[in-house]
Amino acid sequence: MKNPFTPTFGIVPMVLAGRRELLHHMHNAFERGIGDPNLSSILIGPRGTGKTALLSCIGTEAKKCGWICVDTVAMEGMLEDIIQQSLRAAEEFLTPKSDKKLSGVNVGGVLGLTWVQQVKEESNWRIRMSGILDELKKKDIGLLITVDEVRVDVPEMIQLASFYQLFVRENAKISLVLAGLPGQVHQMLTHKEVSFLRRARQHVLDRISDREIREAFRKTVEIEAKFFSSEALDMAVNASGGFAYMMQLVGYFIWEESGASEVISETCAAEGIRQAQIDFQNGVLDSTWRELSKGDRAFLIAMLPDPKYSTLTAVAKRMGKTSGYASTYKSRLLLSGVIEEQSGETFAYAIPSLRDYIDKVR
Ligand SMILES: Nc1ncnc2c1ncn2[C@@H]1O[C@H](COP(=O)(O)OP(=O)(O)O)[C@@H](O)[C@H]1O
Ligand SMILES: [Mg+2]
Repeated sequence: MKNPFTPTFGIVPMVLAGRRELLHHMHNAFERGIGDPNLSSILIGPRGTGKTALLSCIGTEAKKCGWICVDTVAMEGMLEDIIQQSLRAAEEFLTPKSDKKLSGVNVGGVLGLTWVQQVKEESNWRIRMSGILDELKKKDIGLLITVDEVRVDVPEMIQLASFYQLFVRENAKISLVLAGLPGQVHQMLTHKEVSFLRRARQHVLDRISDREIREAFRKTVEIEAKFFSSEALDMAVNASGGFAYMMQLVGYFIWEESGASEVISETCAAEGIRQAQIDFQNGVLDSTWRELSKGDRAFLIAMLPDPKYSTLTAVAKRMGKTSGYASTYKSRLLLSGVIEEQSGETFAYAIPSLRDYIDKVR
């Protein structure tokens, strides 16, 4: 029996927990086309919340609605890559399946050889891209560009955002979906040259509900005809803390523990969870902690005495600072997705087992 869990970054899981509403909105946007606000979207979440997987799923929705999809990561060379990928995707889309062989040798067969040649020779990126978009629009095909791991220090990322604004103004059938860490996205949105993106829909990938995690656990093991005992399932859901990557880790190790038996017991769950926590610490918590400043850490340590929720006044007092001083760190930590605000004035750790981790390393 093959382990159906995928604790690997960037992989679309066998069963997606939650995120249905977002995918539904995106599907509608591709269906409606030009003018739908969700066509310009940003996915925001800390490492392991499922941004990359979701970008792939959004691409799948786009294709279902007759769009072509180009996936990139924010880095030098991304603009040229977008042109090349768009041409290839358009060619594949427009070539009947039976002609697949032909399309390999005959780039420009369907789009028209002279036209493709022209696109290749034009010097200016924007004009070349406009040409592609015009050609696609004539055939009522939309183009989705996804950009993962957005970073403001990549000049081409900023250029893409500005060009995108022009394409939208020209009424092109285009969509831009970005994904990034909260801090990076925030920095990008405050960049003066991309003010347009501030109007993009921001989708914060927060905690997946326990109910959705439970359902995904159940369905994932069912693929290989296994079942959780109800106690084991409760334990697995609890240990996941609504966090996509943690859910995969927990599932993976519990599955390994369960061996050939059809029912997953509490004992397997306990041992699997223990191993998942070690892995999570190495993969996520260590790197998160390393990226934090001294002040950020002091703030997080000052939250420890609170059983679950903290208030700014209490944390500031423990830090021996004013609320004004502490609130700077609160904002920073909210932005990087390390803490999350509850309704009202309280906040809590947003990453599973972060509390135990901080208690150990402080
Ligand atoms: N909605 C989800 N339900 C269950 N597992 C998910 C979900 N989204 C992502 N995953 C899994 O979580 C892990 C992290 O996902 P990934 O998309 O790489 O996160 P990010 O890009 O935010 O760091 C991967 O193992 C992936 O298979
Ligand atoms: Mg990712």
